[in-house]
Amino acid sequence: MNSHSESHVTPTLLIADDDRFALETLEALLSKGGYNLISARDGQEALDRAMDSKPDLCVLDIDMPRMNGMEVCRRIKNNPETKFLPVIMVTGLAPENEKVNALEAGCDDFLSKPVQYIELKTRIKSLLRIKSLTDELVDVEVVLFTLARTIEAKDHFTLGHADRVGRFSVALGKALGFGPDKIELLRKGGILHDIGKLGVPDTILQKVGKFNPDEWEIMKKHPVIGCEICQRLKAFKGILPMIRHHHERLDGTGYPDGLKGTQIPDMARIVAVVDIFDALTSRRSYKEAFPIAKAFKTLYDEADQGWWDKDYIKVWEELVKKDKIASHKYY
Ligand SMILES: [Fe+2]
Repeated sequence: MNSHSESHVTPTLLIADDDRFALETLEALLSKGGYNLISARDGQEALDRAMDSKPDLCVLDIDMPRMNGMEVCRRIKNNPETKFLPVIMVTGLAPENEKVNALEAGCDDFLSKPVQYIELKTRIKSLLRIKSLTDELVDVEVVLFTLARTIEAKDHFTLGHADRVGRFSVALGKALGFGPDKIELLRKGGILHDIGKLGVPDTILQKVGKFNPDEWEIMKKHPVIGCEICQRLKAFKGILPMIRHHHERLDGTGYPDGLKGTQIPDMARIVAVVDIFDALTSRRSYKEAFPIAKAFKTLYDEADQGWWDKDYIKVWEELVKKDKIASHKYY
């Protein structure tokens, strides 16, 4: 990830144009703005620089050799590492349909040659402002993911659990045909589902053996505490249902709200299935890791009791068998 603290000081712009004169003109205009400049003379070079130099913004010509600007933009926007990097496309032709294509490729803004300095400067400024806000948001995510992992670090029996639940939730969501927005929420929600354990004392988290009733009551607060941690972050609104409801059961005997059946959001039901699966197939202080077959038998028995979504378990079982994956060897 780019260090946005650096970008606050002097933003780095990547400018790509195969026309030497156009490139030098842009360089001359933008160096007045006090930016660090990186230049590229074709599309492939632009893509390489976007990946390795981590600029704060790209200005791409459309017609370039080796790879056109449209394709460079598409690849930047499809890569999770660079998808928030703002891209301005510049073209000499500017027919309307080219503009539409550029926007479809995910570009953030579009300018026609000859580029007017004031216009370019204004657009760069506003896109950089958005970029720095996005960077801060990404930093918040990183902090929360790190916190989620520190919970595991306290108890070596659960090491890797949050990441696995994130990956398993994504895999199950994809198999169920969920779209990319929900898949992204499942990834975050899966990783952060137990973030509320930050509010549970270590003596309980690290206890070897079963909880007494008082300890159990405290442990059961973690979904609500998790919501309190994440609810002030607007960008995390979509994952709150997974954090709050991953311990609900279809028959209403779960916690914290005793929701029943489809009252439980589908994404929370997904996280519940893979969370239990991972717990069953992992070694814990009070039990050995179950073999896959025994884990599914337990899941189906509990589904028959009315706890979990049997359809989701079936799809998950197919996925596990098809890929011949055991939870710990999943990746
Ligand atoms: Fe939990």
